[in-house]
Amino acid sequence: MAQPFKPSEALAHLPPYLFVHLIEFKRQAKALGRDIIDLGMGNPDQSTPSLIVEALREAVRNPETHRYPAGKGIPEFLGAAGHYYERRFGVKLDPDKEIMALIGSKEGIAHLFLAMTNPGDQVIIPSPAYPAHTNAPFITRTKPHWAPLLEKNGYLIDFGAIPGDVLRRAKIVILNYPNNPTGAVIEDMGYLKEVLKLSKKYGFLVLYDNPYSEITFDGYRAPSILSLPGAKNRCVEMNSLSKTYSMAGWRIGYALGNAQAIGHLAKFKSFVDYGAPMFIQKAAMAAFNSDESSGIAATYEKRRNAFVKSAASFAGWKIPKVKGSMYLWAKLPAWSKKKTSFDFVKDLVFKTGVCLSPGSGFGREGEGYVRISLVASEERLIEANRRIGSLRSGSLLKEPVVA
Ligand SMILES: Cc1ncc(COP(=O)(O)O)c(C=O)c1O
Repeated sequence: MAQPFKPSEALAHLPPYLFVHLIEFKRQAKALGRDIIDLGMGNPDQSTPSLIVEALREAVRNPETHRYPAGKGIPEFLGAAGHYYERRFGVKLDPDKEIMALIGSKEGIAHLFLAMTNPGDQVIIPSPAYPAHTNAPFITRTKPHWAPLLEKNGYLIDFGAIPGDVLRRAKIVILNYPNNPTGAVIEDMGYLKEVLKLSKKYGFLVLYDNPYSEITFDGYRAPSILSLPGAKNRCVEMNSLSKTYSMAGWRIGYALGNAQAIGHLAKFKSFVDYGAPMFIQKAAMAAFNSDESSGIAATYEKRRNAFVKSAASFAGWKIPKVKGSMYLWAKLPAWSKKKTSFDFVKDLVFKTGVCLSPGSGFGREGEGYVRISLVASEERLIEANRRIGSLRSGSLLKEPVVA
């Protein structure tokens, strides 16, 4: 019988979300008795600091917080986010007009595109990229120019390689550093200054996605693009508590910067949702006012070191040490006979229980790579490489690895 209920054209054109495949692979591998070491999704495994959990308990006791949260966010949340940006990045913002709360920055990205583009508009999206970046043009039926992030360019967009007419037509350009999936960071503010100049010349808005700003290593500190003079005229930055405070499930993020763009986003969202619950915003204030994030980067740094070292020793797999994010971005090991990152990942999860993300899931330029999320203890990361090493040597246990 013909299906009477069709999805919209936008939805029909969306590819299945990357992690849908991985969930299915893991399910099947588990059914075979594999003990799964899941390094696929960037889902923080640590618990939210107790100070923040306690602040939530306290906040939720107040029935005032059970009501619809009005507008762009409660003033106390916006004020705390503003103070945090001033302390951390030296950026001064007007909490009334230049900051708003989001139900996670993923929501903000999709809604900003819906609020500020028309079907057919040109947008510039990096490739590889976080799937919410890659899919925004499909949702909005805008026209993507995929800007390759290449190792030889430090995984920065090479604006010189983008045709002038694309830049002239572009409405929004996405930048994300520390970068998901490559782990690349901004080492030279001159690069961001150039981007601002181009934004002014061609008229596009820069969407600077910065959820890994606090997850950096080896003494490196990530910037906010808003710390550059005039950036507020050209940029909206998004940040999130998901990674900084291991609060991914709480769904709380925020947008900062250009007042006009934030106004459009707020108007759009007012027709779609009521914003993040007030008790979540109150708990997030406690996070902003604490220094709880500091231990998190150190944990990921130790995990990065453990994975890179054990990949080399157990699996003969040379993986570059990133300076930020919670990911490693690695070429398929030289010994792998698999032609695609998808085939490598599938083989790995079925034979060893280790689940990684195929680079091709982040865009065409991701083919040939895998992304490793550092979301397991150092012991488990080392165990993952022991198993990857056994895949290399062909000495896999006959019996499935059972937890
Ligand atoms: C680059 C990037 N932006 C945004 C997000 C989503 O963050 P949130 O949990 O705030 O929606 C992620 C999550 O992995 C990400 O990698």
